[in-house]
Amino acid sequence: MCGIVGYVGSGQASQFLLDGLRRLEYRGYDSAGVAINDGSAVRICRSVGRIDELTARIGPQPMAGSLGLGHTRWATHGAPIEINAHPHSGGDGEVLVVHNGVIENFSGLKEDLQRRGYVFVTATDTEVIAHLIAEGLKRELNSAESQPADRPDADDEDENAVYLKAVRWAAERLQGTYGLAIMFRDRPDLLLAARFGSPLVIGIGRGEYFLASDTSPLADRTDRIVYLADHQIATLTPEGFSVHHRDQGMVSPSIETVQYEAASLSLQGFDHYMLKEIYEQPESLRNAMRGRLDDQHATAIFGGLNLTPQQLRGVDRVILTGCGTSWHAALVGEYLIEELARIPVEVEYASELRYRNPPIDPNTLVFGITQSGETADTLAALRETKRKGQRTLAICNVVGSSIAQAADGGVYLHAGPEIGVASTKAFTSQCCVLAMLALYFGRTRHLSFEAGQQVIEDLRALPGLVQQALTCDTRVREVAEKYKGATNVLYLGRRYNFPTALEGALKLKEISYIHAEGYPAAEMKHGPIALVDTATPSVFLVPRGTTYDKVMSNMQEVKARGGPIIAIASHDDPRVAAIADDVIHLPETAEFLQPIVSVIPLQLLAYHVALLRGCDVDKPRNLAKSVTVE
Ligand code: AGP
Repeated sequence: MCGIVGYVGSGQASQFLLDGLRRLEYRGYDSAGVAINDGSAVRICRSVGRIDELTARIGPQPMAGSLGLGHTRWATHGAPIEINAHPHSGGDGEVLVVHNGVIENFSGLKEDLQRRGYVFVTATDTEVIAHLIAEGLKRELNSAESQPADRPDADDEDENAVYLKAVRWAAERLQGTYGLAIMFRDRPDLLLAARFGSPLVIGIGRGEYFLASDTSPLADRTDRIVYLADHQIATLTPEGFSVHHRDQGMVSPSIETVQYEAASLSLQGFDHYMLKEIYEQPESLRNAMRGRLDDQHATAIFGGLNLTPQQLRGVDRVILTGCGTSWHAALVGEYLIEELARIPVEVEYASELRYRNPPIDPNTLVFGITQSGETADTLAALRETKRKGQRTLAICNVVGSSIAQAADGGVYLHAGPEIGVASTKAFTSQCCVLAMLALYFGRTRHLSFEAGQQVIEDLRALPGLVQQALTCDTRVREVAEKYKGATNVLYLGRRYNFPTALEGALKLKEISYIHAEGYPAAEMKHGPIALVDTATPSVFLVPRGTTYDKVMSNMQEVKARGGPIIAIASHDDPRVAAIADDVIHLPETAEFLQPIVSVIPLQLLAYHVALLRGCDVDKPRNLAKSVTVE
């Protein structure tokens, strides 16, 4: 979703701001803007559309100045039009703000500020923050003037204190979530950052500081970073920075060294990030398993769960929660954990779990599953269950993300940055981690040593099988060519392949804008079969396994009604071709790992269809990579 960059230092701000905004493009946005203070004035430039349009608007002459803010906006309050693009000004233009998140009490604050004479020109909640900080600044300046000059107040010795207090005053009045970068017209050497529920990272350079909503804009600039925590406000000048907690005063920041995966941030010869990430899956699966398979005890090893053996043995129920693709991985996890560990599992949409009040006993473990670690609903669901005293864990890709920090422990995917908006390698890594967790829990219960060894062997074979599965690309492209004009597509599978069907349908709809639905194949007869006609293809997942014959019968039912059939089948299965119009063959894998292999042709099918329809594969319309609002 929205992205933030900021710069203060001895260099020029504009290059970092524009490069940084490009690095944040993957998050999804509809407009962008920058503001730069050149020491005598602030120049703001905004535009609807891509960063290229913003740079065209700026013109050939770079904007001069050593202090600046930049933003990519994904519209929440107010249409995606130029006037609503950030940065926004407060007061008479003395405050400039960019904001990620949503302010829930914005209308009450707006009415109050309007009564005080502040004039609003946008429909955004962010303009409220800008005016609120201007109001805070006015109050602080008035109170500073009325104080005796020799008052023994350490803060007042700091010339930045008045600005810090103004931001703190405003932050105390905000309800909702915010990551804020703020600058003041009259302070061309001061950048402020404030966070609650929306991430911000400070990059420490030599005589310069960078600010961003994630680490990607900081690659090539610095590897020394500070993650701001909730309720923290940072002041940055070319000479140094300090971090203050809203209620606890100055805090000592922990400086971390980040390792960028440069290769993951470039296309490496691929046309799109989505395709590159599809092809990275053999490697991302190896990374998910690296150091986690324990042959000696036929189990898995997880360093970060922070569970004692007693706590582990005591777990009698698991809740898996997430959104979108991560929720589909949770469904796969339900089958895995119930089958291998015999622990009852429930899967909840995080957006529902956060407002439900389910009875949860103390021995229930709650896992939040997320690629980005920033999904607002997943974060809120975990916080809510944690507030009730539940042990919450994260299965997460982005190190240091809000969900990774909020959970009591967890497992990283180590899939590397996922830039394409359509999640691909994160899904297969999530399924792989859930399979290892199922093994881990299973081995503390009934799962035998031999059965554990077999699971490990099957897991080890996975990267090679996914590599083989990728060779279906050319065949999938032919199929895509044939069906690219469809307006509705059904995806059908059973057991482990039911969540895979949901995931295939999600991939197709999000990047090609074709309506697609996933169902358990046998559910067809209870309604969806009414949709079947000669123009509605059905994608059947029918690899060999427990329900193979049942799915073959379901295929016959669709065929009998004239529906075209695309089948994803085992490599040496001649029977499927007798029913299906088009068959894509896959290598055989253990049934519990089928989603990881079967999803490959579905990812490629969505990719090729979208491409053939002229869609922007990596930046589909209306979507954002990390959904940081409810
Ligand atoms: C999938 O392709 C998505 N774009 C989306 O559904 C995503 O999986 C969802 O928003 C959850 O994101 P997360 O894994 O970062 O929490």
